[in-house]
Amino acid sequence: MPREINSVAVAGGGLMGAGIAEVSAVAGMPVVVRDLPQFLDAARARVEKSLAGAVKRGKIDQAKRDEVLARITFTPDPKDVASAAIMIEALPEILDLKVPLIKELDELVSSGNMIGTNTSSIPIAELAGQVQHPGRVAGVHFFSPVPVMKLVEIVIALDTDPETADTAFAFAAPSATRCTRSLSARSTRCRRCSCRWPPRAGSARSPDDVSTPTTSSRAS
Ligand SMILES: NC(=O)c1ccc[n+]([C@@H]2O[C@H](COP(=O)([O-])OP(=O)(O)OC[C@H]3O[C@@H](n4cnc5c(N)ncnc54)[C@H](O)[C@@H]3O)[C@@H](O)[C@H]2O)c1
Repeated sequence: MPREINSVAVAGGGLMGAGIAEVSAVAGMPVVVRDLPQFLDAARARVEKSLAGAVKRGKIDQAKRDEVLARITFTPDPKDVASAAIMIEALPEILDLKVPLIKELDELVSSGNMIGTNTSSIPIAELAGQVQHPGRVAGVHFFSPVPVMKLVEIVIALDTDPETADTAFAFAAPSATRCTRSLSARSTRCRRCSCRWPPRAGSARSPDDVSTPTTSSRAS
């Protein structure tokens, strides 16, 4: 069963983090975006520009744009993310940046709440291994540009809690027309092994059949 998701926090308001914040707010959730103080204005500007484009293309009206923007708070303070029901990190793809952040989040984010990562290439187990309870970490891999791409890949490790995986799906579902589920490989040679979720009718692989991954890895 997924945990209730009534608020979202995003670490890193860059290309992907700003997009994740936007789609979460469009889905109706209050969102906190944490970035370094000198990059907060840029994070807000990214969301504003994207929403302006959506208004221009007739996807949303001005009132909806204002409503969505009002749901997003930009902060430099790590403590402001502590109470979010789901935390998504979207720092640059640099392990030495992500590891200290994951450790910090482990201290800050209420125990039991999930920590998601938008990493494209770092094995989930490598990040999950940095926290006290690795089962609460999963990959929630959005594609760029987030407000346009309707595919979200949920990436789990062998010791990801089922509740964490369910929560990741529940979080991604309002923004996606298709979610896939992948098993993150422990080996860095095979970054992740994919199976389709939900499975095709008649497929031998079920959503829970992740213990025997295929050997094909793919780049995103
Ligand atoms: N760019 C893509 O097309 C794409 C697609 C899918 C997944 N991803 C993944 O998404 C993640 C983010 O990529 P991006 O392209 O958005 O990167 P980006 O460089 O655009 O944004 C990263 C943000 O993190 C902020 N940041 C750095 N250190 C921080 C800290 N300690 N605390 C808070 N914020 C901090 C930066 O200021 C910046 O705003 C990466 O893991 C990447 O692999 C990227």
